Amino acid sequence: MGPSGSGKSTLLHCLAGIIRPDSGTVRYATHPLSDLSDARRSALRRTDFGFVFQFGQLVPELTCLENVALPLRLNGTRRKPAERQARDWLERLEVADVAAKRPGEVSGGQGQRVAVARALAPRPRVVFADEPTGALDSLNGERVMGLLSDAARATSAAVVLVTHEARVAAYADREVVVRDGVAREMAGAA
Ligand SMILES: Nc1ncnc2c1ncn2[C@@H]1O[C@H](COP(=O)(O)OP(=O)(O)OP(=O)(O)O)[C@@H](O)[C@H]1O
Ligand SMILES: [Mg+2]
Repeated sequence: MGPSGSGKSTLLHCLAGIIRPDSGTVRYATHPLSDLSDARRSALRRTDFGFVFQFGQLVPELTCLENVALPLRLNGTRRKPAERQARDWLERLEVADVAAKRPGEVSGGQGQRVAVARALAPRPRVVFADEPTGALDSLNGERVMGLLSDAARATSAAVVLVTHEARVAAYADREVVVRDGVAREMAGAA
């Protein structure tokens, strides 16, 4: 958590190896990400990491179903099983009805749920989620958080989540506050 512009998205992008920090080291499974080649880092993002971006995350030319199937296809899953799994995830996130639509034809909240489905479908070890409930009303926000944390528990994945909402933060085991680019762990967080 932290004020707008404090560096939350930047921190998430550093942790996921999307951008390189100016100083400090990000280690994943003991390996500093900076030691990996660009190709290895991209591979890691495909196999081990899932990302729900704050803005514009879906491929506009693909249907919602194809968007969710995309990371599975990139990992070598054949089209039919990839689309079957994608449909399962859309059902779990309760947006199966928009499977054939393109992102431009669905609401912000539906698009966000499709993006969560796409991040979870390859069963990543770590899910990075940048305000995944920002476009949802509080009821749907809690629903998506419930689904996200259930899916993460079922696959023993870690979730690193940015949020402005205390109700969403309440799902976390640890709370870190970022202010002016400095991260600080909250004492006594759940
Ligand atoms: N690509 C970029 N190049 C240069 N500066 C950037 C870039 N992206 C963000 N910044 C700056 O870095 C700071 C942190 O931005 P960041 O997007 O991490 O904030 P945030 O905490 O995610 O904010 P919000 O809650 O509004 O999403 C801001 O001052 C921003 O203007
Ligand atoms: Mg941000």
